[in-house]
This record gives sequence, structure tokens and C-alpha cells, in this order.
Amino acid sequence: MNDVADFIRRLPKAELHLHLEGTIAPATLVELSQRHDREPLTQAEAEALYRFQDFSGFLDAFKAVTNRLVGPADYELAAWRMAQRLAQQGIVHAEVYISVGVIYVWRNHDPECFEPIFAGLEQARVRAQRELGISLYWIFDAVRHFTLEEAARVFRKAIEMRCEYTSIIGIGLGGDERRCGSEPFRELYAEARAAGLRLTNHAGETTPPEAIREALAIGSERIGHALSAVQDSELLEELKVRSTPLELNPTSNVRTGVCASWAEHPLRRYFDLGLLVTLNSDDPAFFGSDLEGEYMLAHTEQGFTRDELRRLASNSIEASFLPEVEKASWTARIESIG
Ligand code: ADE
Ligand code: ZN
Repeated sequence: MNDVADFIRRLPKAELHLHLEGTIAPATLVELSQRHDREPLTQAEAEALYRFQDFSGFLDAFKAVTNRLVGPADYELAAWRMAQRLAQQGIVHAEVYISVGVIYVWRNHDPECFEPIFAGLEQARVRAQRELGISLYWIFDAVRHFTLEEAARVFRKAIEMRCEYTSIIGIGLGGDERRCGSEPFRELYAEARAAGLRLTNHAGETTPPEAIREALAIGSERIGHALSAVQDSELLEELKVRSTPLELNPTSNVRTGVCASWAEHPLRRYFDLGLLVTLNSDDPAFFGSDLEGEYMLAHTEQGFTRDELRRLASNSIEASFLPEVEKASWTARIESIG
């Protein structure tokens, strides 16, 4: 392993934009299929499900994989495998999106369906903390281009369950921004905020800067992707003044075709402007790069030095929803890595 790769691995890092379903490798999908399908998927058939041409194709592929998670044991397996991979990369904390919206739609809105699945996720989370020393928080993600009622179901479930499970830290909106912005969710976001949930939102991934303004206007605390902010210098200034954390996902953006190349991703521009940028992998099993890979690409494609990589790691802790004491402790550890 070269020096920089070793340094990156040793840096304590948080991953803040990661979809559980997007971490499922084809081999795990084959295992799941063997549990459930009369004619289980072959490895080649599983791999074929991960191929896509553009952003819409990616969303279809994501749905095809998500729909093969059936019961609590499947979610537990997926979450445990995810935690193992995170720990191997020197990730000490992750805030993980769960596509709760897809779960409800796929199961005919059965109000009983989610709690057992969540129990499976929690088993994996507790085991990951105990055996791997990694902390996980859950973010309940709704699909923005489904109906408002679907999103309400997801967010109200988060509100209801948060009383019992403090690991449920927030809510988010994924899906196709070209079909639905943020404004329709204003009241639901306010309701979630009042209940103590933190607010994230995918914005400006496939849409112009106005989508990011709209996400900010409904109270989103962190912005996922924020790719198009680069087109709007006033918005960049606003993001800087507010210290809005940005969950950037360069390889994801290149692979879905919304950014021409890693080298041209606005990460460097945002970083140099002093924005609170974090690096993330989004859906590593689909895009072929994990968080370590993203840090390495920041180094090779955009010349991030060791100290700049260290800053990305400390940004990830600062932008997390961890308690302040834990943030201070990880930040001190990051500073001490030579
Ligand atoms: N769901 C999973 N990954 C996503 C992405 N990059 N954009 C929107 N929705 C998603
Ligand atoms: Zn995402």
C-alpha cells in the first residue's frame, strides 16, 4: 500500500451520504436471491442488474436491487456487510440512508412491515458498534417522485420510532429531482424538525441551482450532491455564510453522467472557497468507488495534499450529527494522525 493510501485509511472518517441498498454487492444479492427465489440469480445475472446508462437507468437499477431485500434477516445481512466494509476503510461513523419509501410501496403499505425490518437493522448496528467500534445512525429516506402521502408515511414513522431509537437521526429525500423539487415537502420537514429529527436533502444533482435554494428554503440542514451550486456564485456565498454541509459524491456524479469527469467535479472549487464539503460514496456497489477510493481520487485527480485530506476528514466529523463531545474527540484524533 502506498503512503497516501495508508494515510487515508488511518484517518478517522465519517461517511454521511451512503444508501444501505447501494452498498449491496452482486455476490450478496446472489445470496439473498438463494434465500427467496425459486430460480436464484446467477452471479452474471446479478451483475447485469447493476448496469445502467444514465441517471434514470441508475434509479431503475437501484430499485431492482432494493426490491430483492425481503425480510429482517436480509436487511441485517446487508447492514452487517456494509459495516464491515466501512470499518476496513477506517470509517468510524456513518449516517446511512434507508429507502423506507420503497419498503412501504413494495409491501402494499402494510403498516406492520417496517418494525421487524428495522429490528434487523438495529441488530447489525449494535453488533457493528460492539465488534467493530463503528457508530451508525439511520436516515429515513423518502422517494420524492412518489406521492406526498408516501413521504408523510416515511417521515411520520421516523418521528414515531425516534422516541424509542435514538439511532434514527434524521430524514431525507432521494429519487428524481427533475420530477419533484423540495417545496411540496415544506410542512413535513417542519414537522420532522419539531420532533427533533435532522433534515438532509438531495438537491442540485440533476437540477439547476434553484433546486438547492428550494432545499435550503424548506430547512434542509445538509445538501446531498449540490453539484449545480457551482453555476451560481451568490448561492456559493450563501452556502459559505451558512456553513451548510455539502455531501459531495464525485464518482457517483461521473457514473450517472451528470458530471463529465472526476477532475472537473466542483469539489476543489468548493473546498478552496471554504465551503463545508464532505466526500462520500453514495452507492458504492453501483459506482465502483468506496470512501477510501474517493479520498484517493481527490489526491490523484485534484491534487488534495495530506493536510487537505485531513481537512476533508475533519469536515466529515464536523458535518455529522454526532454529539459535540464525540466530534471534539474525533477531531483531536484526526489532528494527531501523522
Ligand atoms: N437514491 C440512491 N442514490 C441516489 C442518488 N444519487 N440520487 C437520488 N436518489 C438516490
Ligand atoms: Zn444519494
